[in-house]
Amino acid sequence: MSKRRICILGGSGFVGRHLASALGKENVSIRVLTRNRERNRDLLVIPSLELVEADIHDPTVLRKHFGESDVVINLVGILNDPHRDGRTFRRVHVELPRQIVDICRQTGIRRLLHMSALGAASDAPSKYQQTKAEGEALVLDANSSQLATTTFRPSVIFGRGDSFFNRFARLLRLAPGFFPLPTPNARFSPVYVGDVARAFINSLDERDAYGRSYELCGPRTYTLRELVEYTTEVTGHKRRIIGLGDGLSRLQARILERLPGQPYSYDNYLSSTRDNVGTTEDLERLGIRPTAVEAIVPGYLGNFGARSRYNEFRKEARRV
Ligand SMILES: NC(=O)c1ccc[n+]([C@@H]2O[C@H](COP(=O)([O-])OP(=O)(O)OC[C@H]3O[C@@H](n4cnc5c(N)ncnc54)[C@H](OP(=O)(O)O)[C@@H]3O)[C@@H](O)[C@H]2O)c1
Repeated sequence: MSKRRICILGGSGFVGRHLASALGKENVSIRVLTRNRERNRDLLVIPSLELVEADIHDPTVLRKHFGESDVVINLVGILNDPHRDGRTFRRVHVELPRQIVDICRQTGIRRLLHMSALGAASDAPSKYQQTKAEGEALVLDANSSQLATTTFRPSVIFGRGDSFFNRFARLLRLAPGFFPLPTPNARFSPVYVGDVARAFINSLDERDAYGRSYELCGPRTYTLRELVEYTTEVTGHKRRIIGLGDGLSRLQARILERLPGQPYSYDNYLSSTRDNVGTTEDLERLGIRPTAVEAIVPGYLGNFGARSRYNEFRKEARRV
């Protein structure tokens, strides 16, 4: 029997790399579509992976690649909208999934997995969460006997190459003895990227997963202050964490979103005004025992910044 062909959008990102590594051990062929093939060439260490430079917003391009696939996985997402008016959030989180669903139907794709986010809700405070909810809803609505769809709603995801612990580690290293932390009481249930990747893989042939959404949460809930304090312990960058009240958190977000690279935005601030917590039930339903932060983070955080993303990825690919 020929190998199942899986087309991944967003497969070059943090989650995508871990998922591609894990899929590399399965009997499947993987095609990752990226805007920049050269920058992501390191993915080619996975023998069953094909890396294709493509404009995924172009329906003709999607039609070609979906026509040559059996399964589509969409991981594309952005945390910040460069226009700050929600236009790019809509394009990436709503218009793209709509187009993916349409083209899955046209090309006879039978299985679509889609990444949403835990806080996604139509009445959520941030545009990130609102647009994620809209995209997720239309993917779930598309579930039918021809096209089985499943969505995933992770809390913050950690693991080698993450942008949560690694970012705080970098910021703490630069901080002058104290560290002003916005929304210190925001709560999260961090989930391990290896468990997220496994959830995608285990759901592929799981009939109960058709038409449903899985909440992906780790075994413990922490406040943001606890997670940042933990980062100081692991990295050895002892800093006094100064939790900012609501007004100063807003002000900091307004300032930082104007800096190059938008290290933090007002929309990020709005996202963290609601708890990002849940249970491990859905991971367990997929046969996964959730991994604790403390079991994984010390293994990569001590060396943050010492290795390039490329080396980090090679190491991970060898490990899985
Ligand atoms: N990381 C977390 O803690 C977390 C938590 C909850 C939900 N999620 C969701 O999980 C998914 C994956 O997250 P991640 O952390 O792996 O993100 P990531 O590292 O930023 O990767 C996202 C990928 O999407 C592609 N992409 C981004 N913007 C695009 C655009 N405008 N047009 C086309 N492609 C674009 C990029 O691929 P190319 O550059 O190769 O084209 C990139 O590799 C996202 O949907 C995110 O919202 C993540």
